[in-house]
Amino acid sequence: MATVLTSLPFLIILYLITIPLKFAQDDKFIYNGFHQANLHLDGIAKIHPNGLLQLTNTSNQQVGYAFHPLPIKFNTSSSSSLPPSLSFSTNFVFAILPLIPDLGGHGLAFTITPSWDFTHAVASQYLGLFNSSNNGLPSNHILAIELDTLLNPELQDMDKNHVGIDVNGVNSTESAPATYFSDQEGKNISLELLSGKPMQLWIDYDEAEKLLNVTLDLASNSKPDQPLLSTPIDLSRVLLDSMYIGFTAATGGLTSSHYILGWSFNRSGQAQSLDVSKLPQLPRLRKRKGNLGLVILILQVALPLVVVLITITGASCILRRKKYEEIREDWEREYGPHRFSYKNLYKATKGFSDKELLGAGGFGKVYRGTLPSSNIQIAVKKVSHDSKQGIKEFVAEIISMGRLRHRNLVQLLGYCRRKGELLLVYDYMSNGSLDKFLYDNEKSNLNWIQRFRILRGVAAGLLYLHEDWEQVVIHRDVKASNVLLDSELNGRLGDFGLARLYDHGTNPQTTHVVGTVGYLAPEFTRTGKATTCTDVFAFGAFMLEVACGRRPIELQRLQEEVILIDWVFECWRKGAILDANDPRLEGNYVVEEMELVLKLGLLCSHSMPEARPSMRQVMQFLDGDAKLPELPNDSECFGKSTSNEATDFFMSFPSSFSITSAPSCSSIDSILRSGH
Ligand SMILES: *[C@@H]1O[C@H](CO)[C@@H](O)[C@H](O)[C@H]1NC(C)=O
Ligand SMILES: *[C@@H]1O[C@H](CO)[C@@H](O)[C@H](O)[C@H]1NC(C)=O
Repeated sequence: MATVLTSLPFLIILYLITIPLKFAQDDKFIYNGFHQANLHLDGIAKIHPNGLLQLTNTSNQQVGYAFHPLPIKFNTSSSSSLPPSLSFSTNFVFAILPLIPDLGGHGLAFTITPSWDFTHAVASQYLGLFNSSNNGLPSNHILAIELDTLLNPELQDMDKNHVGIDVNGVNSTESAPATYFSDQEGKNISLELLSGKPMQLWIDYDEAEKLLNVTLDLASNSKPDQPLLSTPIDLSRVLLDSMYIGFTAATGGLTSSHYILGWSFNRSGQAQSLDVSKLPQLPRLRKRKGNLGLVILILQVALPLVVVLITITGASCILRRKKYEEIREDWEREYGPHRFSYKNLYKATKGFSDKELLGAGGFGKVYRGTLPSSNIQIAVKKVSHDSKQGIKEFVAEIISMGRLRHRNLVQLLGYCRRKGELLLVYDYMSNGSLDKFLYDNEKSNLNWIQRFRILRGVAAGLLYLHEDWEQVVIHRDVKASNVLLDSELNGRLGDFGLARLYDHGTNPQTTHVVGTVGYLAPEFTRTGKATTCTDVFAFGAFMLEVACGRRPIELQRLQEEVILIDWVFECWRKGAILDANDPRLEGNYVVEEMELVLKLGLLCSHSMPEARPSMRQVMQFLDGDAKLPELPNDSECFGKSTSNEATDFFMSFPSSFSITSAPSCSSIDSILRSGH
């Protein structure tokens, strides 16, 4: 009995001593690593053998909880021996390792909560604490200090790297970017929560001041003097009597491993400092995770890039193909050897660069080029055509003309066809077109010997087209600008047969009149029918052009001199035909030849086609093999006699103006009325 009596008070005393001790222990603890810790874990949280508390791994939409197993008595109605208080002090070391560098999960929070039953809560932005319907409700009685690593605009997050005070909901009452105040440097230094570096957070609440201080720093540093957040808050409205304290973390579509390395808590007074040296090591996952992260990064970021790259390459391939796209049809097979690839022509002309532009005429632009494989110099004429119809015949004709061989013709080498475009490849004539020599002061003047040789050459070329080939080829556009000079200043006729393109052309309703005003025979402007005679007429105008050094029509001249034929004829009538010679020759010419050329020019310009000589006769006159007949002393035969509309037509256009269709009389009238 005595033992019982003596033992009972002992037991009571023991009880009275141990219970407060137990409470005292519960209200103050420190874990430098969690080896022996008896934490309540939930979600996917676990404690590693080395004492590392892992709240989440990098699985999606996960939560992890770790709570101190016993509730902490915060309010008055406690049986604790301690004075009732809301004050507390805690600090913990954490590390957040995102799966993808800089792109982490939602973060973690130190939480004070009346219950650890979070079955209705969701992960992601609610951090496993709330759901969409109870987020923010005062009945939650939850205080959380969040380390937020994702920007949730709907939660009014400031950034993806901040510390926030959450009262009853994840819309922070107050938050600040993750920084610490450096006493040495006297300024705030940014911290990257997702850096994976161990960091420490201090949370202190002073009931008397009703002030909540939150301080952040690297784990290796001691607590900075200045807190990151210092927020007045009355926790008596939030906290209940009995509360659980612990951690919660959540991942979403983006994930991080959330770790707690150590934790110190104290309900009465400053929490004890953690011993950083005793904290567990983070898994050497970082490198592996880094690599894995890199792989994922490559998959998530680089893969779309690769796709974009492939798309771009593909697109550029298509564009390239489009760029070099040609039209080839079965019937062209036989012309294979004459066919040039557009790509080669494109490269040869440096992409049809303006620098390579030799000139632009009625049929299109001409570019200089050098064939990449052979270094052969070429001229490429781009002729636009909008019809499929007729192209076959035209190409056939062009190809057959490619068989024309004459030293006074510009050799056609081949062709290429694209949508709406025909490219003709010619020998390159290094000295360009004759008109430049006649009218451009930049080019050297041609002496009479050169001029006469060119005239003979062109006549020979035209004769070949008219009479010496298997079929009659009508040039249709003989003029100085279509005569090209090779390196030895031989005249070569270019552009032959091109006018035929318009014969094969789209619109049979319109008569296509192709040629150049001033060189058009009167009957041609009436009928639109090209013959060898119309070529002879143009050759006559061309002869006068070369001899007189001026264009067939020059509107700026005295009225009697505007039309070259009229003027030369007048000179002849006055018995002074040599007056018409080009002053730039300065009298240096062979008189007989000059006279012959001027007279022959007039004869070829006869208004009656049948009165004109043939090219063979022209050749004979030029060679002195035949004597030139006397010219009829009748202005009706030359120039002035040419039908009125033709004269008016000449008058109404500037010289050497190419047209592709003859205006009707009424349009000539309107041109005359507006122009004069
Ligand atoms: C995360 O943890 C859960 C539960 O332990 C496990 O099933 C899952 O495979 C883990 N995920 C990763 C990415 O390690
Ligand atoms: C949110 O959680 C509460 C319990 O806290 C629960 O009653 C409610 O049904 C949940 N709502 C949703 C939408 O899950």
